[in-house]
Amino acid sequence: MKITLAFDVYGTLIDTNGVVAALQKLINDAEKFSQTWRDKQLEYSFRRGLMQNYENFAVCTGQALDYTCAFHKVTLSDKQKAELLAIYRVLPAFSEVQEGLTKLKAAGFRLYAFSNGKADALEMLLSNAGIRDLFLGVVSVDDIKTFKPSPGTYCHFLRKAGATGCSAWLISSNPFDVIGAISAGMKSAWVRRSPEAIFDPWGIDPTITVSNLLELAARISE
Ligand code: 2OP
Repeated sequence: MKITLAFDVYGTLIDTNGVVAALQKLINDAEKFSQTWRDKQLEYSFRRGLMQNYENFAVCTGQALDYTCAFHKVTLSDKQKAELLAIYRVLPAFSEVQEGLTKLKAAGFRLYAFSNGKADALEMLLSNAGIRDLFLGVVSVDDIKTFKPSPGTYCHFLRKAGATGCSAWLISSNPFDVIGAISAGMKSAWVRRSPEAIFDPWGIDPTITVSNLLELAARISE
């Protein structure tokens, strides 16, 4: 059976810090602002999943931006916020992603994008990043109105991709996602994009750890 690879999108394929350049024109400490925004976006997805009070990921992103402005005491106009959210919809891929995905596709793996984002937002994001055509499909948790790392999201992915846990990997830079996928019966590669990144000490380890998709292509068949 061919091996299926589910690629997380934000932070794994797509560099969410791509918004920092635009933030630098508006505020002083853009890096810190961007990190607060990302952390709060994910926190809102976790809380909404637990509360069973689903709103799509773009709503989490917008509300996290409002929180981040208040937290960092930054005043942005509605127009400026709309411009930042528009950038979020066309963020760049990491530099090695297209080559890494091309190698994995040529090696016979079944590639899918699998994300908290809504399908239409993901289609636009991946097309704009020039990598949409490398995927057999795009699977969104929006179909089942909850978020990663709910076990139902990984089961949903397997159903949509026509895969089983033992023939599928989750590829993610987000430790919560890696732990969630392994706990749901998949294998998982942690893409440790920063040497400062820490994997949660839960006693559940990645199947493999790589630093980028080129190393993944070289090692996943070991
Ligand atoms: C995703 O793309 C949350 O970044 C994660 O689903």
